Amino acid sequence: MGLFRYPGGKQRISTEIIKYLHNQLSTQTTHYIEPFVGAGGILLPFLKTKPALDCIHLNDLDYSIYCVWWSVYNSPNLLCSWLESFYPTVDTFYRYKEDLQNVSPDHPKVEVAMRKIALHQMSFSGLGEMGGPIGGKEQRGRWGVGCRWNIKRLCARVNETHSLLSRYHVVLTNKCFFDTIGIYKNALHYCDPPYFEKGNQLYKSGMTLEEHVKLFSTLSHSDNWVLSYDNVPTIVELYKDKHIYNIDVKYSVGEEKNSRKKSKELVITSHEFTS
Ligand SMILES: C[S@@+](CC[C@H](N)C(=O)[O-])C[C@H]1O[C@@H](n2cnc3c(N)ncnc32)[C@H](O)[C@@H]1O
Repeated sequence: MGLFRYPGGKQRISTEIIKYLHNQLSTQTTHYIEPFVGAGGILLPFLKTKPALDCIHLNDLDYSIYCVWWSVYNSPNLLCSWLESFYPTVDTFYRYKEDLQNVSPDHPKVEVAMRKIALHQMSFSGLGEMGGPIGGKEQRGRWGVGCRWNIKRLCARVNETHSLLSRYHVVLTNKCFFDTIGIYKNALHYCDPPYFEKGNQLYKSGMTLEEHVKLFSTLSHSDNWVLSYDNVPTIVELYKDKHIYNIDVKYSVGEEKNSRKKSKELVITSHEFTS
């Protein structure tokens, strides 16, 4: 489970991915980097396994995401008091959406973080700036804009995340992935870029074909990494010389227990998996 609602969350396959991360950890590994941290859907369960590391480096190109991690790490109490003073409405949904589309480093980080979390909690499928409010503009749907607002649970997650991070030296950045890969000597990287096919519909910061190729060439020059992607021919072709593993995700469509519909995600690693 990530810090807040965010699209493309890997909770269904987090146990699998963490297995690959542990496979690549060695006694020499001192740094763990997530160049595409998002809401930390893998980071948090991974940190709960108490990996022996010195430094955690979290990066995302979306400035509001950077503000969320900055606030959770540096100012969790203030963030929670901002969240506690918030009440979800359709009007605030649209106001926050506009504010965050035009956000800049001049805005106070904790206020940006509160708006980012609130917007995603109020949005359909957790899409934030990329979607509409739960229940629609007219609130004619079965569920209303505030149906995912559970302040106790949110603040508990903020505080738990703060204490998980406090065990380490933490570096937070708001850069392109390119500037965060391969910068430490003994580092493990977990890369979860936007999906190749649908990523640009899900995130405020998407990636072009050239950027996906640049990620490939950056990783090719880097030592220790685990990468998750959608299972599409371009990605399989690009990474054909690396170690590619298929992960089955069972979708319980409409929560039907025996649904057979499956979708494959890929985990690609720099080192072969040894069980
Ligand atoms: C698939 S999501 C990560 C989801 C995350 N693992 C989670 O559990 O929430 C991809 C993230 O990459 C970020 N991103 C997009 N382009 C980027 C770039 N060029 N450099 C760094 N981050 C980028 C997006 O803002 C988004 O948060």
